[in-house]
Amino acid sequence: MYPRIWLITGTSSGFGSELVKEVISRGDKVIATARNVERISHMKDIGAATLQLDVTASQEVLNRKAEEAISIYGKIDIVVNNAGYTQFGIFEENSHDQWFTQFNTNVFGALNTTRAFLPHMRSNKAGVVVFIGSMVAWDGLPALGAYCASKAAIHYAAESLSKEVEPIGIKTLLVEPGAFRTELLNQAPSSRSISKLEDYRTISEAVAKNFDDFNGNQPGDTVKGVQRIVDVVKGENEASGKPWPALLPLGSDAVSTIRNKCEQTLRDLEVWEAFAKSTDI
Ligand SMILES: NC(=O)c1ccc[n+]([C@@H]2O[C@H](COP(=O)([O-])OP(=O)(O)OC[C@H]3O[C@@H](n4cnc5c(N)ncnc54)[C@H](OP(=O)(O)O)[C@@H]3O)[C@@H](O)[C@H]2O)c1
Repeated sequence: MYPRIWLITGTSSGFGSELVKEVISRGDKVIATARNVERISHMKDIGAATLQLDVTASQEVLNRKAEEAISIYGKIDIVVNNAGYTQFGIFEENSHDQWFTQFNTNVFGALNTTRAFLPHMRSNKAGVVVFIGSMVAWDGLPALGAYCASKAAIHYAAESLSKEVEPIGIKTLLVEPGAFRTELLNQAPSSRSISKLEDYRTISEAVAKNFDDFNGNQPGDTVKGVQRIVDVVKGENEASGKPWPALLPLGSDAVSTIRNKCEQTLRDLEVWEAFAKSTDI
């Protein structure tokens, strides 16, 4: 049964990179993956196996990658869908291709990777699928619509999946972090393009400036973040004895975003409840 075998996507930096180190230090084995496997070759020095994996590859390729990954240690216990990036831009100016590419990585990449490992987990009647979502699933932000929508899509896909696979013995863990100091906002400033349309210029400039100022000052400690994820998956430390969480917010900003949204939704329901119910036959 032990050690357990983890496969993690997008381990060249940030959460993925720290998670590899944490899992190994806690006695489990890891297959670290990245689209450019040379960027993670140093992880072999700490005992990780490495595998090239671009989550936007076709289902056929991902299925073959899953077979290759399973053959390394003979099984996979935990898949962490971590790979992702942030698309900036005003809704009207972001193209279909920009939205599609954002969803192709953050949503379809995670879902297709999961689909590739589910037959193995079903045959074992065990396994954990971790999705790294975001607190932005709860709060659509201006000039960040594609990213927020992608994280909201993962939230509900994970929730639906959990109801299908839990009876089989497979668990899902939806992690929704607040802002953590990773490489996520380290994109070229040109990727935070200012709106060419006068009507959106002020909000677009404000968001770009906020992100530039925020980058490097995010409140979340990535090492502590991955420790909490491993605590929950392994049922250790503060997570020991607690029930499996339907969702795991990480960071005080994530907790307050989710709480504020719930409270606002309840207030809105109170105002509109009778009106909303008035359509019943
Ligand atoms: N940091 C935060 O504040 C925060 C908050 C909430 C959620 N998250 C989520 O946490 C996850 C990890 O992000 P991070 O913050 O650790 O940022 P990061 O340091 O930029 O790491 C993102 C990782 O995803 C990889 N990646 C991107 N596209 C990929 C693809 N098509 N196939 C495989 N790997 C790919 C990147 O690889 P390359 O090096 O090849 O680009 C990189 O290793 C993301 O899903 C992100 O949305 C982050």
